[in-house]
Amino acid sequence: MIIITGTPGTGKTSVTNHLKDKIDAEFISINSLLEEYDLNLGTDEIRGYKIVDTVKMIPIIDKIKKDTKKDVIVFEGHLAQDYPNADLVVVLRCNPETLKDRLSTRKWREEKIDENVSAEILGVCTSESYETYADSVQEIDTTDISIEEVSDTIIRIINNEITLPLGEIDYLSEYFHLL
Ligand SMILES: Nc1ncnc2c1ncn2[C@@H]1O[C@H](COP(=O)(O)OP(=O)(O)OP(=O)(O)O)[C@@H](O)[C@H]1O
Ligand SMILES: [Mg+2]
Repeated sequence: MIIITGTPGTGKTSVTNHLKDKIDAEFISINSLLEEYDLNLGTDEIRGYKIVDTVKMIPIIDKIKKDTKKDVIVFEGHLAQDYPNADLVVVLRCNPETLKDRLSTRKWREEKIDENVSAEILGVCTSESYETYADSVQEIDTTDISIEEVSDTIIRIINNEITLPLGEIDYLSEYFHLL
């Protein structure tokens, strides 16, 4: 079971949709679970986020994992690293300036965009993933590669053809002034 996580705008959903055409796997996304299983704890009015009940999420995913007949499960979402029983976490990363451009096309308030850009600079998703998954966390820099190339890279990770361990991607030293 592989988790695909990352700051909003790093391409999780686009890449996962691409993977659906390429591999026969069980696909789960937090956004679809939210509707189906009533995992919405309300909305953070200041930040404009849906609050996900990640504790209630765990047994639901455990059951899907137990029941599926597929060999591979792909679980995608910005909080998917809160699920502790996967084999591998891939964090999609994106250069903060490029990420800001991608998020600017959304009708989001400036503060919400900046908060997510800061989270990417600080590597919040990587850090959260590392707390649970340590050496089983890998990172892909999506800045200069296409959605298709990101999805091909994930397939190579799943097939154990490559590993992309932490330590290569560092936006903090160059972009801390944008925090
Ligand atoms: N590698 C890439 N190159 C160029 N554009 C990309 C790439 N990956 C994603 N994008 C674009 O960035 C935008 C955000 O992608 P997407 O919605 O898949 O992100 P997400 O991580 O699922 O975000 P969220 O957490 O909000 O669901 C989309 O317009 C998508 O086309
Ligand atoms: Mg998405």
